[in-house]
Amino acid sequence: MKKIALFGGSGGLGTKLTPLLEKKYNVIKLSSKDIDVRDLEALKLFFGKNDIDIVINMSGYNFDNFLHKLDGESEIQDMLDINIKGNINILSCCLPKMRARQYGRIILFSSVLAKKVVLGTSLYSGSKAFIDNLVKTSSAENIGRGITCNSLQLGYFDGGMCHRLPEKYVEPIKQSIGLKRWGTVEELFNTLDFLINVEYITGQNINISGGLQ
Ligand SMILES: NC(=O)c1ccc[n+]([C@@H]2O[C@H](COP(=O)([O-])OP(=O)(O)OC[C@H]3O[C@@H](n4cnc5c(N)ncnc54)[C@H](OP(=O)(O)O)[C@@H]3O)[C@@H](O)[C@H]2O)c1
Repeated sequence: MKKIALFGGSGGLGTKLTPLLEKKYNVIKLSSKDIDVRDLEALKLFFGKNDIDIVINMSGYNFDNFLHKLDGESEIQDMLDINIKGNINILSCCLPKMRARQYGRIILFSSVLAKKVVLGTSLYSGSKAFIDNLVKTSSAENIGRGITCNSLQLGYFDGGMCHRLPEKYVEPIKQSIGLKRWGTVEELFNTLDFLINVEYITGQNINISGGLQ
């Protein structure tokens, strides 16, 4: 059984996804208490101890505010540290061993907001756009070593951050989705499973949003 390190496995989506992944893979589910993605030394130790075939990074932080209202909040630092540096830390720690073992699958969690303009989401959307670019370079650097690296641009899924939307936005958002519903965790699992089992897709940002406009 291939071994997955599932960062963000304790979140709303990760908790629902884990049992589906566990049917086919050996899953190490990680919360921020197990490993904080800001902690480079902890990540080095983890990847040193474990032979990981597949890295899925669902860890993420969200904070919305208008740019003109931002005032040096610690949330800005958290966004940079968790959503940007966290992904860099994970890649820099998992890649050396994957390169040596000539195999790896890396899937990072982005968002449709990397491309779509929604007021108040500049920090979050910028951090997700960074992830979308990161997988392109990472893919090019590691394509000759059996490693693929892609990001998933999620629309609105049934769990986690989506469940924390203020009630007044729920129906208008659903109506803006072609399929008029949240994505399911089964659909997320099928996409991940597909990406894990295909070598010919790498460096891509895969939009999974039910036809969101
Ligand atoms: N839900 C959606 O509809 C949706 C839409 C678009 C994109 N996404 C993306 O999908 C991913 C999962 O979303 P979700 O809705 O499940 O989010 P969530 O419920 O907020 O869960 C966030 C996860 O990130 C972990 N985390 C936060 N800070 C961390 C840190 N410093 N180190 C390690 N782990 C940390 C949390 O761990 P703890 O449990 O220990 O706090 C938790 O497991 C995120 O990247 C999100 O941006 C989700």
